[in-house]
Amino acid sequence: MTNKVTLITGASSGIGEEFARRLASDGHDLVLVARSEKALHELCDELMLKYKITAHYVVLDLSEAGAEDKLFAETEKHGMQVEWLINNAGFGSVGDFAQLDGAREINMIDLNVRSLVALTHKYLVPMRERGSGTIINVSSAASFQPIPFMATYAATKAFVSSFSEAIAEENRPFGIRILALCPGSTNTNFFAASNIDRPIQVKGQQTVEQVVDTALKALKKGKSKVVSGLANKVGATLGTHVPHKISTRAMAKALRSRVSKNSDL
Ligand SMILES: NC(=O)c1ccc[n+]([C@@H]2O[C@H](COP(=O)([O-])OP(=O)(O)OC[C@H]3O[C@@H](n4cnc5c(N)ncnc54)[C@H](OP(=O)(O)O)[C@@H]3O)[C@@H](O)[C@H]2O)c1
Repeated sequence: MTNKVTLITGASSGIGEEFARRLASDGHDLVLVARSEKALHELCDELMLKYKITAHYVVLDLSEAGAEDKLFAETEKHGMQVEWLINNAGFGSVGDFAQLDGAREINMIDLNVRSLVALTHKYLVPMRERGSGTIINVSSAASFQPIPFMATYAATKAFVSSFSEAIAEENRPFGIRILALCPGSTNTNFFAASNIDRPIQVKGQQTVEQVVDTALKALKKGKSKVVSGLANKVGATLGTHVPHKISTRAMAKALRSRVSKNSDL
């Protein structure tokens, strides 16, 4: 008997939690990963009861070297076939790069980039052997242009989008769907977890339900990248077409006043 599961990283809150709720309601069996054991435990219990699915959780700091090996070993040990992989765990930072905590910036790259690439590779190989699978990599509307005072975060998400769109095309002939999901400002724990005092937004915030809905519709349409929300789509288009010399100057102007309250800028 196959044991097909959907594995979601960063499922203890926000967008990842909503993916878990939405896909459980569609009948997916789940493996949820994050560091917060209590939140994962409670979510698994709730979803199993409500939707009669199976839901397992793995408590793991994915920014640590070798975490992906531990996770892969865990799913192998239980004979799980990861049919959907949602690489969602991530965090950001805002500030003058020279004054930010350097170790935390590197930790962000470890989580947002290294872990995402490692997990994608681990689970893509068996997907290719089976000729089926779905991967959603959560990028950001911040991926479309360099962002002064969010330099590392925007660069990690530019990597995620570029990487995901490239492998989406590589794997299209093999029946594997890969999507880069680019939310704009969304009402989650992200800003608190990223030590950002208040949301950075183009026009209001989206809900997690809107973001997940956008992703699932884009998958059905065979897209390899989607921006969630009209205002964010407009921002992404500007970010793509306006010369970076101009857009970085405008971004810096917008963010410098926020950052300068806490620094010497
Ligand atoms: N909210 C936004 O405005 C926004 C906009 C664009 C893109 N995004 C992206 O959306 C994704 C989800 O973020 P969110 O908005 O839903 O924020 P969130 O509510 O803070 O969720 C982040 C999730 O990642 C997990 N996580 C953080 N560090 C981890 C680590 N070292 N190991 C394992 N899991 C870890 C967190 O769980 P634990 O703390 O329990 O580990 C949590 O479940 C992120 O990739 C973020 O960059 C968010």
